[in-house]
Amino acid sequence: MLKIWISGSNGQIGKAINSVLEPLQFEVFNTDKDEVDIADVDEVFRFGEVNRPDIIINCSGVTDMDYCEANPKEAYRVNAIGARNLSIVARKIDAKIVQISTDDVFDGKSTKPYKEFDTPNPRTVYGKSKLAGENYVKEFTHKHFVIRSTWVYGKGNNYIFDLLEAVKTGKPVAVAADQFGAPTSAKELAKFVLHIVSGREYGTYHATCKGTCSRYAYAKEILKMTGKTAKLKAVPTLESDLTSVRPAYAVLDGFIMDIVHVYEFLSWKESLEEFLREEGLYEQ
Ligand SMILES: NC(=O)c1ccc[n+]([C@@H]2O[C@H](COP(=O)([O-])OP(=O)(O)OC[C@H]3O[C@@H](n4cnc5c(N)ncnc54)[C@H](OP(=O)(O)O)[C@@H]3O)[C@@H](O)[C@H]2O)c1
Repeated sequence: MLKIWISGSNGQIGKAINSVLEPLQFEVFNTDKDEVDIADVDEVFRFGEVNRPDIIINCSGVTDMDYCEANPKEAYRVNAIGARNLSIVARKIDAKIVQISTDDVFDGKSTKPYKEFDTPNPRTVYGKSKLAGENYVKEFTHKHFVIRSTWVYGKGNNYIFDLLEAVKTGKPVAVAADQFGAPTSAKELAKFVLHIVSGREYGTYHATCKGTCSRYAYAKEILKMTGKTAKLKAVPTLESDLTSVRPAYAVLDGFIMDIVHVYEFLSWKESLEEFLREEGLYEQ
């Protein structure tokens, strides 16, 4: 039986990978920062060498962008050094490694979707530390999958729950009309991760649900599907509630996925509906 180590298993992507793994035949090792702090090289080596997983999926991260700006050392410690440690041990035990990364490695100034080989130019500490993590993984192991996604939601802290909480106040919510992305369910991303990792099509992938929308259109769709009648105001990012620092253009082109035909994502609206139904929030 193949052995999988999921680091960051309490996070929304870690949980989604576990839920997709459930019916499959794998031996699963779940750890989060209380069990194995990925930034601690000794802990990572001890765990990796004792358990010898065939696959390591790094879903750990410091993901709060404002926190990263205020605590750059901690952002780099986990997002960069942590990824380095996992990739060194992956190499040592000949495991494949999946590094979950982000559109934030780009500057968001483009007007067309970013391909895998476009030059990164992160503007935030979060984006810079994630890019450093990607680079370490590429440097230290060749059996890697660097998977960049965007606007991910699942069981955890995410934009959907923040918005639904904000509209409870009855006040209008200001939503950025100048941010563009592809809302992606953690479950869809998890299905892709488990599919790709079973093969040998190594490298970097842009992996998001299909289609693109503005943050404002996304928020409107969430309210429509959940039957809420709250008022939204379309504003520029800097005046928006809930998402203050984001690249304006977070659209990723799944160029390599199209070439190697590894997977077909659902559209963002289909996945959103599926998620809201599963959460008991769909009201149409
Ligand atoms: N959400 C998105 O839109 C998105 C998009 C693209 C890529 N990603 C990337 O995907 C990964 C998972 O994202 P997510 O949304 O599932 O994030 P999440 O819900 O914040 O989960 C991250 C997990 O990592 C844990 N962690 C923090 N420091 C750690 C350490 N030193 N050692 C081990 N675990 C540690 C966190 O624990 P605590 O919560 O207790 O700190 C949390 O359980 C991240 O690397 C993120 O950069 C996310």
